[in-house]
Amino acid sequence: MKIKFEDHGDGVPLVLLHGFPLSRRMWEPQKKELVSENVRLILPDLRGFGETKSLADINTMEEMAWDVAELLDDLKIEKAIIGGLSMGGYVTFALFRLKPDLFSGLVLCDTTSAADTEEKRENRFKLIKKIEEVGSQVLIDNMLPVLVGEFTKENNRELLADLEQRFADTEPQAAMGALRGMAARKDNSDLLPEINVPTLFIFGEDDALTGTETGRKMHSQVKDSELCIIKNAGHYSNLEQPEQFNEALISFIGKQ
Ligand code: MLT
Repeated sequence: MKIKFEDHGDGVPLVLLHGFPLSRRMWEPQKKELVSENVRLILPDLRGFGETKSLADINTMEEMAWDVAELLDDLKIEKAIIGGLSMGGYVTFALFRLKPDLFSGLVLCDTTSAADTEEKRENRFKLIKKIEEVGSQVLIDNMLPVLVGEFTKENNRELLADLEQRFADTEPQAAMGALRGMAARKDNSDLLPEINVPTLFIFGEDDALTGTETGRKMHSQVKDSELCIIKNAGHYSNLEQPEQFNEALISFIGKQ
């Protein structure tokens, strides 16, 4: 599938994959800063999201990863720093398994190499049922309060309102397809000791979905890796604290 994307700047290629249920627009606060630091920033819309339409019942992390591989092939990019946030991280792991040679570095934000627990899987199927009944609006009450950190809830109503709108605007079919895909994803923890490129883990200190413990554990298993904890941020660390996030990313890229 040909996916829609943005391609800005020239320099070190960096591909960032968005989380659920967002789109490439989630990287808006990173664009200007990264491009002015000699980065070629490539931002795809994964299947079903943003401008990449898909009506499939299930969109697996592997299919999304193949789409990104195909995009890089079309752009004649042989190596890039590739990363993602949460679902974007699951896709990054899937891509690393499929095409490790594409990677010159890895950026894994608020994500996990683990598969869903049985409980998480069941919750996803309950959520799918609710979306079928009432639409994407249910994502707001069911997910948003867990994703966004306390600091943001108290101090950034504007971001909260914007996220509510983006959640409500998600195509129900796309949300359900990705939820099924996330529920079906493999455990990629066996890849961690095999990662042989510089890796940056970024976690919001109040990420209630993935938790900093997950970040610390993965960091301890990847040889050439660093971990940055973002203060006053939850799961959407790049949106909640863009300055800290950009600084960590720019410093990592500068070392490559
Ligand atoms: C995300 O932020 O991409 C999702 O919430 C991840 C998940 O549901 O596992």
